[in-house]
Amino acid sequence: MHILVINGPNLNLLGEREPEIYGTDTYKRLEKTLLAYGEQKGVMIEIKQTNLEGIIIDLLHYAHFKHHDAVILNPAAYTHYAYAIRDAIKAINVPVVEVHLSDPKKRPEPWRHRSVVEDVCVKTFKGKGIRSYKEAIDYLVEG
Ligand code: DQA
Repeated sequence: MHILVINGPNLNLLGEREPEIYGTDTYKRLEKTLLAYGEQKGVMIEIKQTNLEGIIIDLLHYAHFKHHDAVILNPAAYTHYAYAIRDAIKAINVPVVEVHLSDPKKRPEPWRHRSVVEDVCVKTFKGKGIRSYKEAIDYLVEG
């Protein structure tokens, strides 16, 4: 099984960015943890991060054309308004799992309470920091 993990805007600043919300683990740590977890579970994990919406769309198309088995996507703030990402998820024939470090629906800003990708993803894992990604891997491996 080959899984593409796509992380959206500002996630490269993990560890420095609002640590009271996102924790103190750095982006490097997130990558290392997921690569090790993939090895442990016998799945190939490829991880990309971008701050640009169009690149997220290109990466979703890349997963489609390269026949990845699944995508784990944290669209970050794009979650809440990026219809082009929603359309790309619908357009490809690869299942996409939505993940978030925090639980956006429990945060004070009302604009975070809506996900425009949730209903086109096969599942959402949120609110558990790096564990949200591990749960997404478990879900894809174990079904
Ligand atoms: C996030 C939640 C989003 O609301 C926010 O804009 C992010 C990160 C999360 O992982 O908790 O950048 O996707």
